[in-house]
Formats: sequence, C-alpha cells, structure tokens
Amino acid sequence: MEFKHKPVLLKECIEGLNIKSNGIYVDGTIGGAGHSLEIIKNLNENGLLIGIDKDEEALQAAKLKLSEFSNFKLIHGNHDELKEILEKEKIDKVDGILLDLGVSSYQLDNKERGFSYMDDESELDMRMDKTKDFSAKDLINTYPEEKLYEIIDKYGEERFAKRIAKNICISRKQKEICTTGELVDIIKKSIPEKFSHSGHPAKKTFQAIRIEVNNEIEPLYNTVMTSINMLKPQGRLCVITFHSLEDRAVKQAYTAASRSLHMSERFTILRMWCSITWKNNNKKANNSIRRRTRRKFKSKKCKIKNI
Ligand SMILES: C[S@@+](CC[C@H](N)C(=O)[O-])C[C@H]1O[C@@H](n2cnc3c(N)ncnc32)[C@H](O)[C@@H]1O
Repeated sequence: MEFKHKPVLLKECIEGLNIKSNGIYVDGTIGGAGHSLEIIKNLNENGLLIGIDKDEEALQAAKLKLSEFSNFKLIHGNHDELKEILEKEKIDKVDGILLDLGVSSYQLDNKERGFSYMDDESELDMRMDKTKDFSAKDLINTYPEEKLYEIIDKYGEERFAKRIAKNICISRKQKEICTTGELVDIIKKSIPEKFSHSGHPAKKTFQAIRIEVNNEIEPLYNTVMTSINMLKPQGRLCVITFHSLEDRAVKQAYTAASRSLHMSERFTILRMWCSITWKNNNKKANNSIRRRTRRKFKSKKCKIKNI
C-alpha cells in the first residue's frame, strides 16, 4: 500500500524550526518524510537530517521521498531514546528537533496494521513497531478488567469505559477477541443507544488501546525534557500534538524546563520552541469520512517561547 500522509502545519513547523542551512536537525517521527523533505530542502551539503521512526514501513517511505538527497540518516528507533540514539551517532547537540506525535494516516488506513475501527476483518494489532511482541490483541485478551477500565478511561476519556472493560472480559471468556470488528461489536453493545450518535462509538477506546500498546504518553514528559537539553543554544524544538493528553505532557515539560534554567542562562542562552496543537474544526464531521476530515483540521494555536 502506498504511504499517504499529508504533513500538517508544515509552514508553521518550518518557520518554527528557523533552519540553519549547515545545522543538524532531527525528525523524531519521520513517517513519510513530509516535514523532513521541507527541512532537508533548507539544508546545504554541510547540514544533516536525522530521521527516526519506530515503524520500518515509514522509514522505507521516507527513504524513497528523500532519495534525491544524500545528507540524511534514517534510524529505526524510539525518539524516547533520543539521547542514546544521538550518542551512538557521536552527536552531542542539535539545532532543531521536530516531533509530530501520534499515528500516521498510512498506519490508520492500512488494514493490515489493525489500527482502524472502520474495518471489520483485520487482526487487532496497532503496533507502530512491528518488531515488538505486544499487540492490541494481547492487551485485549490478557489485561485484567480493572486495568482495561483504567486505560480506556485515562487514554480514551470514554465515559462508558467500565461497561466496555466488563464486556471485553465476558466476551473473551467465550472466545479470544481477534479482530477489530469483534472489538467494535463489543464496544457498540456497551454504549447505550441514546449516546451512540456522537461520532463512532469505538473511536475513544481504539485511541486508548493504541496509546497503551505504543506507550505514547508515559515517556512524553521526559522525551520533551531530553529534547530541550539536546538543543544547541538558539536551537528549537517543535512539537505537534494531536489530543489533550499529549498536549498536557508537552506543556508540563515546557513549564518545568523554563523554571529549571537559571536567570543568567536565560540571558545567555536563547532556546526556542513552538508548541502546536490542532483541533477538529468541523464539529459535525462524520467519522466515516475521517480521512477527508483530517484535511480540515486547522491550526489552533502556535506558540513560540524564549527561555
Ligand atoms: C503523525 S506521523 C508523522 C508524519 C510525518 N511528520 C510526515 O510528514 O509524514 C507519526 C510517526 O511517528 C512515529 N512514532 C510515533 N511514536 C514514535 C516514537 N516514540 N519513536 C519513533 N517514532 C514514533 C509513527 O510510527 C509515525 O510514523
């Protein structure tokens, strides 16, 4: 399947990164290299782009997209280990880092990846990194009811989390839950009819499971702190968040980082970052036209801060 992902807030990111042509830039979520292509266009032959992704299919797509350039290196890895990854490359500090958090359209739309509640037949999977063992199917069939409830509540903010967790446990006693369709049916049965009209009933639960399978939120605070510390003076960190859980972790890290700098450093070191969140502007959007809707997402805020 062709790797399709439209880079969001491209102009804002490129402006936010304020690219130096001979600088070192890290795209910690390279995906199909939509943002990276614009970054590398701004570099000269002394500049370097490091692209990281957990997903090997994304790295293949990125390699193709950047094929006319030579000053890049692609790394299969986790940006939560950015310091270790850069140490291995013998890089101490960088000029800019981009994190476009979450899942790509390609991952969502590719049935074989088992991320989508719009598809009935796919095996429950949702691993961004297919070299890891733990999948959505393992989670759904092994987590205790209380833990299922906790993650659906915390990462999905689903008001019927308790009923969904209970029904998953009842259902899996009869038969292992294997497909996205089976899980969608259980979720639909758990949500009272009168509440089932605002968006797809499985959306929040699927988001929660995906976040847990890929450990997307827990390390985020430390990842942002580490990224800030990996910047050269005047370096910039640009983070695109998709939902409030990511946004909260990123903002907390920004706040803590700005407090931890001494006054003297504030005057001598200028570090800049921009935090961007995007929000669905089309409230009536039907989830069945999700791909089209995603194009209608629009920048909600874009902040640049000096510390
Ligand atoms: C929203 S997409 C990025 C799309 C990209 N900016 C583009 O223009 O195509 C997020 C990508 O980050 C990857 N990813 C998510 N969490 C990651 C992590 N902790 N470490 C490395 N890659 C991660 C996903 O596999 C996915 O390919």
